[in-house]
Amino acid sequence: MLVHIAALLSPDELAAMRNRLNSAAWTDGRVTAGHQSAQVKGNLQLPQDGAAARELSTEVLRALERSARFISATLPRHVYPPLFNRYESGMSFGAHVDNAIRQIPGTPHRLRTDMSATLFLSAPEEYDGGELVIEDTYGAHCVKHAAGDLVIYPARSVHRVLAVTRGVRMAAFFWIQSMIRDDGDRSLLFDVDTSIRELTQAGGHDESIVRLTACYHNLLRRWGEV
Ligand code: NI
Repeated sequence: MLVHIAALLSPDELAAMRNRLNSAAWTDGRVTAGHQSAQVKGNLQLPQDGAAARELSTEVLRALERSARFISATLPRHVYPPLFNRYESGMSFGAHVDNAIRQIPGTPHRLRTDMSATLFLSAPEEYDGGELVIEDTYGAHCVKHAAGDLVIYPARSVHRVLAVTRGVRMAAFFWIQSMIRDDGDRSLLFDVDTSIRELTQAGGHDESIVRLTACYHNLLRRWGEV
């Protein structure tokens, strides 16, 4: 399941974040890569323990918490503090799968990466190339969204970022451990929740909505890990 969340960041939040990133010092992106992905990764990253990364990361987490669609699509148990990357002309990240388990920096906690997320911080017209290409059972999906938009996809997917051929592409990226481990189960719950919201907005029949809502919570009770 590929989920697009438009305008996760407000225009003001986006502008402030971009200003901060434009004056930041970037380092080689291979610091957080696993053995295979380090061989195909060629981008820049904001040092994870620096003040800029920590503050901007907290801002992204705050934006995620207020997004009902993000909560519904991911049913988050743990969210990895977002990292920031930058691709200049000629930079790319070849085909890879993200590491399954990640240590949350500065803590003893580990997170299973069920879903991967990219928050676009550059507008599509600012750069050429740089598409995020995600492979699933239905083929390859090419993703290039507006600045401030988020895309979430199963972390088990092979994915890559095509070479940037003009301009600069900046993004935040992170992982989510969901209360629902299986992508199929999670996607089913997302569909049910979305339908409940739509039926409620359309002024649907109370009793049916109560029954459907009970089904949603009882499935969550059956499958959820907390
Ligand atoms: Ni990746």
